[in-house]
Parts: sequence; C-alpha cells; structure tokens
Amino acid sequence: MSPYPSAKTIYARTSSPGVAGAAWHSLLWLVIANAIGVLIAVLLLSPSLNKELGEWTYGRWVIVHMNLELYGWSSLPMAAFLFKVYGADRGPLAQWCRPALWVWSTALGVGTLSWLSGQSSGKLFLDWSGYARIYFPLTILALWLLIAAALVSGWNSSDNAGLAARSAKVLGLVLLLVVPFLIYIASSPTLYPAINPDTGGPTGASQLESSLIVVAILLMLPFGLTRRKAERSRTIAIAWVVLAAEMVLCLALGRTDISHHRPAQYLSLGSLLLWLPLTPAYYAAFEWHAATRRWRIAFLCWWSALVLTGWVMFLPGVLDHFKFTDGLVGHSLLAMAGFVSSLLIFVLVELLGEDGWIFNQTWSFYAWNGGVAAYVALMFTAGWREGFDPAFTMAPGSMRNAIYDIRLLVGISLLAASVDWFVWATKLVREPSLDSVTSAQEVTA
Ligand code: HEM
Ligand code: HEM
Repeated sequence: MSPYPSAKTIYARTSSPGVAGAAWHSLLWLVIANAIGVLIAVLLLSPSLNKELGEWTYGRWVIVHMNLELYGWSSLPMAAFLFKVYGADRGPLAQWCRPALWVWSTALGVGTLSWLSGQSSGKLFLDWSGYARIYFPLTILALWLLIAAALVSGWNSSDNAGLAARSAKVLGLVLLLVVPFLIYIASSPTLYPAINPDTGGPTGASQLESSLIVVAILLMLPFGLTRRKAERSRTIAIAWVVLAAEMVLCLALGRTDISHHRPAQYLSLGSLLLWLPLTPAYYAAFEWHAATRRWRIAFLCWWSALVLTGWVMFLPGVLDHFKFTDGLVGHSLLAMAGFVSSLLIFVLVELLGEDGWIFNQTWSFYAWNGGVAAYVALMFTAGWREGFDPAFTMAPGSMRNAIYDIRLLVGISLLAASVDWFVWATKLVREPSLDSVTSAQEVTA
C-alpha cells in the first residue's frame, strides 16, 4: 500500500490547529514570495517593464522576495515545531496559536509595504527599518511569550519530561529570547555598514562556523519531533562527537588570514564532507512517520549536494571565478529552495502526521525538486560563463536570454507546486478536527 494517503481518503483533520495553521501561513508566504520571484525573473528579461511599475521597480521587489522567502516561508514551519516541542498547541493555550500566527503575518505585510515604499536599512535579510523594525521583533516576542507560558503551564501540570529535556527547553527559550533583540540591533545601519570595507571576504573559519550551526540544528531537530531507535544510539553519539570536534577545529582556525588559497582554510572546510554519510545514518537512527519518506530522501540529497558544491565553490580558482556571478545565486537557491525548503516540508509532514498528505502529490514533488535542480544548473552555467565575461548577464544575448527564459519557466513550475500545497492546506485548516468529528458521532450514536 502507498505510504501517501490520497486527499479523498481524508475526512477530518488529525493535526492540531496550531500546527495546521502554521503550515497554512508559511505556504501563503511561499506562494506570494514565489509569485514575486516570477515577477523579478520577467523584469530581468524585459527591464523596460520597470517603467510601468512607478517606484516599485526590480530593486524593491527583489528584497521583498528574499525577505518573504526567509521570514515567511522558512520561519513559520519553525513556529509549528516550537508549538509542538513546548506543548503550546495543546490545552488551554492552543487557542492563542492562530492569533500569534496572524500577528506574524501582519508584520510581514507591514514589512512588505515599508520595503516597497523604499524604507530599508540596505542590509540583506536585515532590511527592517522604521516602524517595521520595531513591529517585527515585537511579533517574535509575542510568540516567545506564548511558548514560555506553555512551558510553565506544562511544568505545573503532569508533564513528566526528564530533567535533560526540561533543561534543553529552558536553554532553548533563553536563546530564542535573544533573537528579537538581535534583529532589532543588527538592522541598524550605523552598527556596521551594509557594505563593510573592513571585512576581507569569507574565510574557511567563517564558512565552517555558519555551516556547523546548520549541522547543530540538523542534529537537534529529531529530538523535538520523534523517538530514537534504542539500537542506534551509537550512531547518534558518534555524530555529536564529530560535531564537537569540528567546533574545536573551527575555534582553532585563525580568523586573521582571509585567503581561501591557504590549505588550512579549504581543508578544514572540507571536514564538512564527513556529514555526507553521517547525516543519513543519523536520521535513520530515529523513527519517522511513513508519509515523510520522500521528503526525507529529498532533503538528505539536497544537503549532500549543498555541502559538496559549497566546498568545491570555496576552492582556490573556483571561488575567484564564481565570485559576484549568477553562480552564487545558484548556490543560494540550492541552499534555500533545495535544502532548507525540503527540510521544512519534511518537518511539517512529520508534525502533521496523517495530514502530511498535503505535500505528497507526486506531480508537485517532482515539479518542485526537478525545478530547483534545473534552476541551479542554469545559474551555475550562467555564473561560469560570467566568470570569463563579466558582461554576459548584463548585456542581453541569445544564450543569456535562453537561460533566463528557461529560469522563468522553471520558476512557474515552482510556483505551481507551491500553489498546489497551499490549496490543500487551505482545505485542511477548514476541515473539522478529528476530535470534534468523533465526539459528534458519539453524540449521534
Ligand atoms: C518561483 C520560484 C522563484 C523564482 C522565479 C525566483 C527568482 C529569483 C530571481 C530572479 C532572483 C534575483 C537573482 C539575481 O540577483 O540575479 C532571486 C534571488 C533570490 N531568491 Fe528567488 N526565486 C524563486 C524561488 C525562491 C525560493 C523558493 C527561495 C528560498 C526559499 C528563493 C530565495 C532567493 C534568494 C536567497 C535570492 C538572492 C540570491 C543571491 O543574491 O545570492 N527564491 N530569485
Ligand atoms: C543552509 C545552508 C546555507 C545557506 C542558506 C547558504 C547561503 C549562502 C548565501 C546567501 C551566500 C551569498 C551568495 C551571494 O553573495 O550572492 C552564500 C555564499 C557562500 N556559501 Fe553558502 N549557504 C549555505 C551552506 C553552505 C555550505 C555548507 C557551504 C560550504 C561547504 C557554503 C559555501 C559558500 C561559499 C564558498 C560562499 C561564497 C562566499 C563568498 O565568496 O562571498 N554554503 N551562501
């Protein structure tokens, strides 16, 4: 029997309103951000269309596109994760999940209007300025208060979590409290300028540092989602030891030498290749809902592709050629639309359980993953050409136009997949919950 139940077999929602609501909000922003992606892909092909848009030209839409992909699509599934981990989606506090999500979405709406009106700090992914710079951190704080209240009420009730789990939750809460303040402070254009002449570029240490944060998140996620298989605890222990060793390596690396031509820099970054076999082994050490299978495979494949190509990209000769080209756009897409997005869908399917079918239509799975693969290949090709000829992507030519035309078609395929998930998620949030259906049946009986 297929592990992916069809929509027709579903008659009631089994997931909590908080988790289903978070999936709906994140997909709403994915659809909006992707539609804007299609718009900017058109504008790159026909720049004269900018004249029709008044002040809302390419430069304003592109930051809206990036911010909505990050703070909308990529962030809200993590709200669902936190609801589950801290128990905010159960008991009396559950009724506050949806209002908290609406407050978040309103902040993104306010941010969008402010960026389109030309207000921006000028820092990528930290464009919050004016009233949006205050409103968005307050929104994160509201969500934080909700999960903090859930933790305290779980404490008072019969929550029988062990000491380690409780301490991890408290530590997580303390770290999360820093986030809104960091966003507010780092968005200031006076803290460090948008283009910082004091930094000489990436080092093996800085790349390794940010990648290890991603690895740490990958290793922590399963503990909030499911149970581990007792017989595989050695694999889990090995993975944590490797992470600790790499962190020590990262601290030991000098930060003053900025050249990626130094063997110590690229060899240390190469230590990430250990995660190619380790990550799948680690995830196989936990029990997963059958419906997660294809997205679990997808995110593990994207992760391997990201680590491998990211490392090759850093090598002497390659980075010198790829720097400031479309090759880096390809890398960003591989990282965010490939790896991060498939990881988020995997997390959502696990959290939704039986309701995870909304992401499991076969055509949309291939439209998304095939589309991202084609997009990345196109941008790597354009970037490589651009490395020889910097005018390649600026001056329209037949090959550049063909690449950008196909990117537009691929973008439409990604947009179509996201619309499909959003339509199903809308149906899902409107379904009665299984509890209410069961009790209604009991009453009738
Ligand atoms: C419908 C699908 C999409 C289309 C058509 C699209 C289109 C675009 C375009 C035209 C750019 C500007 C590239 C340039 O600077 O020349 C861009 C940048 C970007 N997009 Fe998208 N995009 C799509 C989906 C996504 C998704 C799903 C994500 C993340 C989850 C994403 C994240 C980004 C990021 C981070 C950048 C900045 C890249 C960089 O400058 O390195 N996009 N996108
Ligand atoms: C979730 C994971 C990751 C995300 C979201 C991400 C995102 C990004 C972004 C947005 C850029 C800037 C692109 C631009 O300037 O247009 C970048 C640059 C880069 N990334 Fe990643 N990346 C990730 C993982 C990795 C990994 C695992 C590696 C290496 C193994 C890597 C290696 C690089 C390199 C070498 C650059 C070029 C730096 C430069 O010269 O400016 N990335 N990444």
